Amino acid sequence: MTINIERGTAGTAGANLLVIPIFGGKTFTLKSIKGIPDDMFDRFLVLAERAEFAGKANETVYLQLPVGRNADGILVIGLGEKGKDVAGAVREVVGTAGAFARRGGMKSVALILPKELAKANVIDAIATAIHLGEYSFDMYKKEPSKKHLDSFSIVIEDRKQLLAFRKIVEHAETVCDGVTVARDLVNTPAQEMTPTHLAEAALEIAKVSNELITVKILDAKECKALGMGAYLAVAQGSDEAPKFIHLIYTSPRPSKKTIAVVGKGITFDSGGLSLKPADGMMTMKCDMAGAASVLGFFATLSRIKPRVNIHGVIAATENMPSGKAIRPGDIVKSMNGKTVEILNTDAEGRLVLADSMTYIQREVKLDAMVDLATLTGAVVVALGEEVSGVMGNDKKLMKEILSSAGLVGEQTWELPLVERYSVLMKSEHADLKNISSTKYGGCLTAGSFLAEFVENTPWVHWDIAGPAFAEKPLSSYLGKGGTGFGVRTLVEWVREM
Ligand code: BES
Ligand code: MN
Ligand code: ZN
Repeated sequence: MTINIERGTAGTAGANLLVIPIFGGKTFTLKSIKGIPDDMFDRFLVLAERAEFAGKANETVYLQLPVGRNADGILVIGLGEKGKDVAGAVREVVGTAGAFARRGGMKSVALILPKELAKANVIDAIATAIHLGEYSFDMYKKEPSKKHLDSFSIVIEDRKQLLAFRKIVEHAETVCDGVTVARDLVNTPAQEMTPTHLAEAALEIAKVSNELITVKILDAKECKALGMGAYLAVAQGSDEAPKFIHLIYTSPRPSKKTIAVVGKGITFDSGGLSLKPADGMMTMKCDMAGAASVLGFFATLSRIKPRVNIHGVIAATENMPSGKAIRPGDIVKSMNGKTVEILNTDAEGRLVLADSMTYIQREVKLDAMVDLATLTGAVVVALGEEVSGVMGNDKKLMKEILSSAGLVGEQTWELPLVERYSVLMKSEHADLKNISSTKYGGCLTAGSFLAEFVENTPWVHWDIAGPAFAEKPLSSYLGKGGTGFGVRTLVEWVREM
């Protein structure tokens, strides 16, 4: 599928489907819709009036054109009221248009972009929504699950903007390729997506990076020598060998900053001996979504070449029950020396993240550390399936992440790191326990546990358990399954540096 930027109008653009977006609200009148051929306008008015079309978000009117025209039909789509998040409205419109075209077996779409929308951030939003909407995961199917488009054209009026907009489309494609890497990794069943397979994916990303990325893989023995007792406690119940993955991107341009992104890489979370009920286990191949987003992010770096050195850390393992598995009540020693009483083996994410964070902070002096994790069901209770939660110890870093997430449309909300809640994670017999003394505020107490492993590093913990894996579509352009949540925000963040 190719995205073109071309100069033209609704009268000249050739495609199966022409798309005309229009704002609803105060400025809306049917008469102000431009691009409907004169001889078809009365017909259009009948259809639009019948549908009570008012330009509301994702409202549509489809007008079939007679044979011999430059297109088979015109789809007018509402952008909703003219508000602040124009990019968000445009992403929805593009998702709706793409889905409409695919459903009808159409191969080409041309979006007629009004002058007021011919801006860099809108072009980026369009290209992003096109790519994300085209995604499907068909590796295990005989018949593809959906039809695909051949081309999507963005039609603009001003020739002078072509060059700049083409660059933006190219960038969006790079970023979306990274999102696709993450989505494929998440969607691949855990039987194949083992810690070893994740490590191989990291090595592959390094291999095609023009030597900008290197990877170190540590096996269980090496992790033991480093004292990663918390990580290895989770791994000990599984027959799959754990793999500790450390990626390093070294900027080819002068850079002063060094940052780390840490991903939760539980390739399957059965809960361990504190076994999950069947329903709760069904989607738990998604428990490496944080790791997948770290890898998807790294896949973009050798093309984007940001001006910052970046470490990626993934302590990959399964969480399984077996005769060798860790038991509730066992006490383990983490890499930073703190002991942890494991009272629920299903609270495994914080254990692997603890050693991941200690490792990377001991390895390098960091200006920022962000962990991405499908960490708690509690964050989904608090914020729902579409919104992620962030907590942290540094106002400036928090602002950067929230603003990047806002720009790319990955919904993210700050939750507090509550000083007093750290008491809830203290154990009678060890320094810490891995579950809280209360059943309330589970996302916050998980964050408080992680904070025990942060050593004077500006840090953000990002609980993506809701939006990382969609059981129903997240939007018109992000379908079911792995969403690659976090990749686009991370790219935006390092690009701002
Ligand atoms: N991987 C789960 C969290 C999760 C839940 C991710 C739903 C995606 C969707 C995590 O390891 C877990 O099991 N957390 C427990 C913690 C509890 C035992 C303190 C939870 O949230 O129930
Ligand atoms: Mn768990
Ligand atoms: Zn988990």
